[in-house]
Amino acid sequence: MLDLLIHHATLPDGRTHMGVAVQHGRIVEVSLGLSPEQAPAAEVVDAQGQLLSPPFADAHFHMDATLSYGLPRVNQSGTLLEGIALWGELKPLLTEDALVERALAYCDWAVAKGLLAIRSHVDTSDPSLLPVRAMLAVKQRVAPYLDLQLVAFPQDGVLRTPGGLDNLKRAMALGVDVVGGIPHFERTMQDGAESVRLLCELAAELGTRVDMHCDESDDPHSRHVETLAFHTQRLGLQGRVTGSHLTSMHSMDNYYVSKLIPLMAEARLSVVANPLINITLQGRHDTYPKRRGMTRVPELLAAGLTVAFGHDCVMDPWYSLGSGDMLEVAHMGLHVAQMTSQAGMRQCFEAVTTAPAQILGLDDWGIAPGKQASFVLLQATSVVEAIRLRAHRLAVYRKGVKLASSAPVVTALHLEGRPFSVS
Ligand code: FE2
Repeated sequence: MLDLLIHHATLPDGRTHMGVAVQHGRIVEVSLGLSPEQAPAAEVVDAQGQLLSPPFADAHFHMDATLSYGLPRVNQSGTLLEGIALWGELKPLLTEDALVERALAYCDWAVAKGLLAIRSHVDTSDPSLLPVRAMLAVKQRVAPYLDLQLVAFPQDGVLRTPGGLDNLKRAMALGVDVVGGIPHFERTMQDGAESVRLLCELAAELGTRVDMHCDESDDPHSRHVETLAFHTQRLGLQGRVTGSHLTSMHSMDNYYVSKLIPLMAEARLSVVANPLINITLQGRHDTYPKRRGMTRVPELLAAGLTVAFGHDCVMDPWYSLGSGDMLEVAHMGLHVAQMTSQAGMRQCFEAVTTAPAQILGLDDWGIAPGKQASFVLLQATSVVEAIRLRAHRLAVYRKGVKLASSAPVVTALHLEGRPFSVS
């Protein structure tokens, strides 16, 4: 007897009438037409043709700032600069308990939306490392139901902040997983390049991954990603390094980019674009035409790089909106990058499921035999429809255990001569 059988499911690759059998938290079989008669299970779910997807994953988030909207006041202008000022006002008021409570509440939202893996940057600028300790506690608390990976993020610049490198090293020693950075925020281009070298060498020494906020700027001369690719290749860190944002690439000269992207591919860099944030924060110094300010997603994908879409912020000093819905992120990314081809829309779905999981190093993520039995049943019949509708989550499973469920969304209609309901 199996633990769980989900039958009559549609899979993200378009296969229909599929059965997915689960034993001891792992997928043991994925077959066409697999029925409860053929594969008896303790729990049987008829998917009724709906889409069974790998869980959503978010490769770029700020869990230490989330749900702080309105504390101590609202960002009136909605700009990056007021957001940074607001974070400065909020920091002295932070307590470990409040940080933990807000992060746990966000993780509840995430699970309800089928978002089961998050890489969160954690501010290491303050020597107290208060946010680091709080997020490490959260990581432990949510471990039974959500993979939380932490990045040591020197928000104010690792060289620009007195003691910045020491704080970051202490955060890594406390158990933070990934080395972060923000080279474009250092005082000079040279300091930015130096920070990339120092941080990549630290990651090589510690054997960790790297994920830097890199070139989150409209300045086409912000080229720290070139340095990131260089040190990745020099230190043998291929496949372990992520460039987050990379918005300056939007504004770069095409000739330079024709050299840059092959260098990034050689270093096997991963890329995270954050469409909700970058479409609102970039291009603010432009009049008209206004640049979109998102990195070159289709071109990076075409070069074979792994590209994910991240949420970045939800209800914090920088962004008043968001709900932990990675389909909203994919929807925005699709529009901003004009990825409306059939293949492009499928890539946008992968950019919030399998691609970020790969960036986090979750190798057993996906609907195939031998993978962990984690998935989301969506009220949609294809990945394109899932993005179009920001589909309702019917059920969320992790390692064969149901974490969340809800009834299908159906609205009764009271119209003469029309159907009784619409879903
Ligand atoms: Fe960020």
